[in-house]
Amino acid sequence: MIGGISAPSVLIAQISDLHIKPVGLRAYRRVDTAAALARCVKELNRFAPRPDLVVISGDLVDAPSKAAYDNLVELLSPLEIPFAAVPGNHDDRDLMRTAIPDGYARATGALHSMRAIREVDVVLLDSVVPGCDYGTLDAEALAWLESVLAASSARAALLFMHHPPFVTGISHMDLQNLRNADDLAAMLRRHSRARLVAAGHVHRAALTSFAGAAATICPAPNHAVTLDLNARWPPSFVIEPPAFHLHASLGSTSSTNVTLSLVSQTIGRVTGEGQATRGVCR
Ligand SMILES: [Fe+2]
Repeated sequence: MIGGISAPSVLIAQISDLHIKPVGLRAYRRVDTAAALARCVKELNRFAPRPDLVVISGDLVDAPSKAAYDNLVELLSPLEIPFAAVPGNHDDRDLMRTAIPDGYARATGALHSMRAIREVDVVLLDSVVPGCDYGTLDAEALAWLESVLAASSARAALLFMHHPPFVTGISHMDLQNLRNADDLAAMLRRHSRARLVAAGHVHRAALTSFAGAAATICPAPNHAVTLDLNARWPPSFVIEPPAFHLHASLGSTSSTNVTLSLVSQTIGRVTGEGQATRGVCR
């Protein structure tokens, strides 16, 4: 413990937008998403302290097929940490449920799920509209979330979904975000225990606030949506250093939640001996 801050009491790793193809195929014929996921799994396994859970926030595959999900399961098999997943617009609920069968709130349909980890509830919301790139939380999703959030007033709740409920300024992605963000905002204002809304979909890190909660987008381990704030077309991707997010609850009351971005290709390391115990005054 340093300065009253202990190690994370709960540590959730978030990875997103894996876009796995059948064995041997590349996304957009160029991006080796399988190699990217293998590298990501290696990083997760060697990170200390070990995360309690890995959340995969959608687009597990690039185009849904049994072969793509089989490859996904194979690539995730070396992961030494429990994981939970929610679908994105590139996924198929039924194929995903078959490939990753356990832990969902419903036996059919939407793939909502919840994990209670010590003082934190990790809530995964399925925002997929089949056949559409944009997302919606339909009446069933909102009712399920309401029942989950109403179950406690004290426990921190971290919400994960594929579609961001906010805009990023990247216009072609903003056209396909969560359409009924106002419904979610109204619910979160009634349930202040919701501390974080963590999305994917944009393949690059973003940070804002949403209805009193922190709101983030997790970067991808492979290709990133080009950071185009000038609405140029066509949309494109760029290859940037891969990264994922770590959501940490710090302190014994879990009153502090922080999102850390881990870039998994470092280009050097500088030692800072003695810095950790000096504090802020010299
Ligand atoms: Fe994606």
